[in-house]
Amino acid sequence: METIQTITRTFEFSEYISILEISYILASILFILGLKRLSHPDTARNGNLWAAAGMGLAILFTILFHKTKMEDGSFQGIHNIGWIVGALVIGSIIGWLIAMKVKMTAMPQMVSLFNGMGGACAALISMMEFPRMQNELADMQVATMMNGESLAILLGLMIGGVSFAGSMIAFGKLDERIGDVKSPALRYINISFLIILFVFVIFIMFKTPVAGENWMIYTLAALALIYGVTFVMPIGGADMPVVISLLNSFTGVAAAMGGFLYNNQAMLTGGILVGSSGTILTILMCKAMNRSLLNVIIGAFGGSSAAGPASGDKSVKEISMSDAAVLLSYSQKVLVVPGYGLAVAQAQHLCHELENLLATKGVELKYGIHPVAGRMPGHMNVLLAEADVAYEKLQEMEDSNNEMNNTDVVIVVGANDVVNPAAEEDPSSSIYGMPVIKVWDAKNTIIMKRSMAKGYAAIENNLFYMPKSRMLFGDAKATLQKLVSEIKNL
Ligand code: TAP
Repeated sequence: METIQTITRTFEFSEYISILEISYILASILFILGLKRLSHPDTARNGNLWAAAGMGLAILFTILFHKTKMEDGSFQGIHNIGWIVGALVIGSIIGWLIAMKVKMTAMPQMVSLFNGMGGACAALISMMEFPRMQNELADMQVATMMNGESLAILLGLMIGGVSFAGSMIAFGKLDERIGDVKSPALRYINISFLIILFVFVIFIMFKTPVAGENWMIYTLAALALIYGVTFVMPIGGADMPVVISLLNSFTGVAAAMGGFLYNNQAMLTGGILVGSSGTILTILMCKAMNRSLLNVIIGAFGGSSAAGPASGDKSVKEISMSDAAVLLSYSQKVLVVPGYGLAVAQAQHLCHELENLLATKGVELKYGIHPVAGRMPGHMNVLLAEADVAYEKLQEMEDSNNEMNNTDVVIVVGANDVVNPAAEEDPSSSIYGMPVIKVWDAKNTIIMKRSMAKGYAAIENNLFYMPKSRMLFGDAKATLQKLVSEIKNL
């Protein structure tokens, strides 16, 4: 302990500028550079490490150099270092084990779980700090609203609590442990809870503080947790991605509140970066899904119970492996539309092999990427980058749709909802209004999946019965393997 204090004294420049503050600026720079590097698959892994190094630096320097000014004017270092280091070690081991063991297809659940932990941390900070602040204000006979810290504490608890409870429900849903609860009443319940939450925060702000009176903070925590549950519970169908990115931004904002509270620049910058990038992603997702943000916040859309058009006695046409091989070899433009099934089958390397093989025959193959294909933002980009597919080969949905009429063959690899015409044709469908990749406009469509099972939104897909569609049933990896061999033998 004495050594730590000696180091602290050595590096203290003045009461205002210390090595701690410089380390926070360095950490913030590492966060920003890390985030920048995350925007390209080639640098993303590295960017993650940069941001993690920034966080490590901020934690280490806080432990070593943080000091609190005491009433007598002296400074005291951090206490309970053993507990802090113990918690860090246990948390790091658990996080490392989970991240090492998680399957690529379960990554979204893990992201939701970790995001929820961030929200819980922010909420717990507020719950710890509120009684202290309340007692201080009561002693000084100062109204809660006159204190700058109080809003940060209350918002941290409210937003962090919603983010924690919402993320846990999202985790349960993505992991198929929790189903959707769809009732029109939930829309009104959600709006009511949201209003109650805000009114309650205002009530606490205006209330005269009484020392030891903590029921308000527990009530606020309970309300935030209940709203988090009722907010995510009805959301289903194809709309979970928007909610997940919104919850992510909530956690960032809640952490930023902690940064305000402790005047901690690293926490503030980190929180603001997560909050703002999460908000931008949410807006982009809303645009991609053709939904309004207000609808997301009151949890009023989605649900997977829409029946969609019944398959009835309609029948599908299949294509043989050899016919598919010939069709592809004599095409000029081929578009692969990957979906969640690509991740399940881990068929990305075979897609790339098919692309290279067709290139030797003068066939151009591109990939049409839907913004919510798979189970997490950028899921398809990450998988294809892992298989060394050139970034330029990935085409955004709009570009794919513009070129669809001139595309000879579309191969749908384990995608379903993102190529469902109900989004355009069936106003009763839960995905109605969501932009989709219009693969039915191509000259031929080959659909690779294992069965006639539905996708995430649990609705029928009329694409399978359309005149130009032909099914190639089987696991996508095995099917692509056979297709590649068949083309090689032509
Ligand atoms: P889905 O609609 O979920 O369809 C995936 C299809 O892949 C299934 O119909 C399944 O049919 C097939 N499949 C599964 N395993 C396969 C395998 N081994 N080989 C071949 N096919 C396989 O996927 P999508 O089109 O990518 O749409 C994504 C959906 O998830 C959207 O509704 C989206 O809103 C939602 N969602 C997205 C995100 C993000 S951020 N991307 C997050 C949460 C939810 P079979 O069982 O018959 O093979």
